[in-house]
Amino acid sequence: MNKLVPITLLVVILLGVLYVYIYSNNRFRFKLSDTGISQLEPSPQVIFVSSDFHLVAPDGMKYTQPSITQGRTDVVSVTPWLAPVVWEETFNEKLLDSIYMKKNISVVATVFAVGKYIMFLKDFLETAEQFFFVGFRVSIYVFTDRPNDVPHVKMAEGRQLNVLPVPSSNRWQEISARRMELIQKLIEEKLINKADYIFCLDVDSKFHGRWGTESLGGLVAVIHPGYYRDDRSRFPYERRPISRAFVAPGDGDFYYCGGAFGGLIQEVHQLAKTCRKNFEDDAKEGIEAAWQEESHLNRYMWTNKPSKILSPEYLWQDFKARNPEIKIIRFSGVVKNYAAIRPN
Ligand SMILES: *[C@@H]1O[C@H](CO)[C@@H](O)[C@H](O)[C@H]1NC(C)=O
Repeated sequence: MNKLVPITLLVVILLGVLYVYIYSNNRFRFKLSDTGISQLEPSPQVIFVSSDFHLVAPDGMKYTQPSITQGRTDVVSVTPWLAPVVWEETFNEKLLDSIYMKKNISVVATVFAVGKYIMFLKDFLETAEQFFFVGFRVSIYVFTDRPNDVPHVKMAEGRQLNVLPVPSSNRWQEISARRMELIQKLIEEKLINKADYIFCLDVDSKFHGRWGTESLGGLVAVIHPGYYRDDRSRFPYERRPISRAFVAPGDGDFYYCGGAFGGLIQEVHQLAKTCRKNFEDDAKEGIEAAWQEESHLNRYMWTNKPSKILSPEYLWQDFKARNPEIKIIRFSGVVKNYAAIRPN
C-alpha cells in the first residue's frame, strides 16, 4: 500500500511532462503553404517568415560531408555581423541549385548600355547565357538609347531579354546618376510581386565562370577588386561631410562595387530609392560625390549591412593580374579605352 503512493505520483508527473511536451510540439508545428511561406499553427499572431529564409533540400540528395573544422584559411568567409562572404570552395553548387530549383525562383538582371557602351552588350548577353543562373528563370532588362542596335542573342528557354529605351546623355556621370532612379521605377512598375531577386550589373563586363544561387541573399554587395587588401583609410569613399554619401574616417567595412549589387527585389528597391534621393538632394546643392552612385551605395551599405557579400571573384578587372586567393574569376570588367567610349 505505502509502495503505491510514490508510483502513482511518478505516473502523474510523467503524464504531466508528456502533456506539456505534446502541447508545445503542436503549438510550433510548421505547415508549408504552396507559396513557400510558412505559417505557425494555431497561433495566428506570428504570421509568416519570408520564403527566402526557409531552405528545403530535396529528399535523397547525396553530397560530400561538409566539414566544420576544415575549409578555406587564406580568406575570410564571414563578416563581423555574420554575413557569409562567398568564395570558391565555400559552397556546394549542386546542393544550392536543388534548394532554389524547388522554390522556382525568378532572377532579374539589369544593365545600362547607353551610347557607345552598347558595344559591350553582345559579349555580356552571350556569356550570361553560359554562366549566369543557368537553368533558372532569368529576365534581363537592357536600358539603352539605341534600342535598334541591341544584338540578337539566342536565349535558352525560360530566359528573356527586355529592352527599355532611355534618353541619351552628354555626360557619363549623368547616365550613371540616373541608374538608381531607373532601377527604382523598373521595380515599382514591373517587378514587385513578379520576380524574386535582382542583380544590377555593369555592361562592360563578361562572365567567365558560374554566377548562380550561391549569390542569393537579402541585400548582396560585391567587394571591389581594387581595394580589398587595403586599410579603410585608403578606400575612395566620399570624404566631404557636406555630401550625403559622406563616410567618416575610421568608418566603413569594405569598399563595394557600384558595378554589381543585388538581392531581394524589396531590398534593392529600398537601396535604389535611398541612393537616388541622396544623390538628387546632393545635386540640388551642387554636390557630386567622388564616385557618384558607387559612393552613395557604399554609404548606404555602411548603415544597412549586406546580408551576403560576394568576393572579388564576382567582379574582377581584366587588366588586373589574378591574386592567389582568387581561384576563379566569374565576372570581370573588360579593358577599355575610356576616351573612346565616354561622351565627355
Ligand atoms: C514557376 O513560376 C512560373 C511563373 O509564376 C510559372 O509559370 C511556372 O509554372 C512555375 N513552375 C513550377 C514548376 O511551379
